[in-house]
Amino acid sequence: MSSDQPIGVFDSGVGGLSVLRRIRADLPHETLLYVADSGHAPYGNKPDEFIARRSVAITEFLLEQGAKAVVVACNTATAAAIARLRDRFGVPIIGIEPAIKPAVAATRSGVVGILATGNTVRSDKFAALLDQHGHRARVMVQPCPGLADCVEHGELSGPRPRALLEQFLEPLLEQGVDVLVLGCTHYPFLTPLIQRLAGPDVAILDTSGAVARQLRRRLEAADLLADGRAAGGASYFTSGALERTGHVMSRLLGHLVALEPLPEPFRHGGSLSDPTPTPVAALAPGTGPAAL
Ligand code: DGL
Repeated sequence: MSSDQPIGVFDSGVGGLSVLRRIRADLPHETLLYVADSGHAPYGNKPDEFIARRSVAITEFLLEQGAKAVVVACNTATAAAIARLRDRFGVPIIGIEPAIKPAVAATRSGVVGILATGNTVRSDKFAALLDQHGHRARVMVQPCPGLADCVEHGELSGPRPRALLEQFLEPLLEQGVDVLVLGCTHYPFLTPLIQRLAGPDVAILDTSGAVARQLRRRLEAADLLADGRAAGGASYFTSGALERTGHVMSRLLGHLVALEPLPEPFRHGGSLSDPTPTPVAALAPGTGPAAL
C-alpha cells in the first residue's frame, strides 16, 4: 500500500458529493474515486441485506482500482454495512453518522431535530448513538422519505422539496428545535432551502467535516497521507443513467463531471464472490420495509 493510491468514496447516489467536496477541500492532494450507486438509489427504504451487498460490491470495485481507504459517504449504508465492510476488507473504512453529539452540545432551547432516512433512524447503530449522546437534550427524530430523491433528481428548491420539508420541519419547529442535524448526505445540498424554511435562528449541522478529519487521522496513522506535492483529483462512476446523473453531479459540484459507467459485475447485484449470495433481482424496490 502506498500514499499515492486513491481514496474510494461511495453513496447510494449523488449525496456523498457533499462529503467528497469537503474531503477535496481539506485533503487537496488526495486522488479520489467516487461511486454514485444511483441505479439502486434510494437506499433509505431498501432491505439492509441489499444495501450491505451493494456496499460490498462497490468496495470491491474501489479496491480493484487500488483504493488505500474507503469512505462510506452514506449514513444509511454506514448503519447497514460498515461492520461487514470492516470484517471483510483490510483497508481503513470510514463511515458517517448523524451529528447528535455536537447538536446536543450546541442547543440552547434543549430541543434538537434529526433529519435522516427511514432506514437510518430504524437502525441499531442510530439507537446506540441516541442512547450514548441523546440524553442531555430532547431529540426529535424525523424520517424524510422522498427528500434524498429530490436531490438525486437535481430538485434543490422547487415545489417538491419545499412541500416535503415544510411537512418534515413543522413538528420540529413547533417543539422549539434550534439545531437541525442533516443525517443524510443528500440533505446538505438542500441547506439554503432548509435554512429559509427553518429561519435564521436554527443552526444546521452536517458531518462531512468530521469525516474528513477522521479520514486524515486514519491515513496519518497508517502513513498513507498523500504527498503535499501531489496534484490530487477525482474520477466519478455510477450505476445509474450516465447523462442524467452526470448532469446532476456537475450541477451539485459546480463544474463539469466526466462520469464513467460502473463496470459489470459491480453495476448490478451484490458481491459475486460472496459465499452466500442473495439473488438481488428478488429484492426489487418495494419489497423492503415500507418507507417511514
Ligand atoms: N445519502 C444517503 C444517506 O446519507 C441516503 C439516501 C438514500 O439513498 O436514501 O443516508
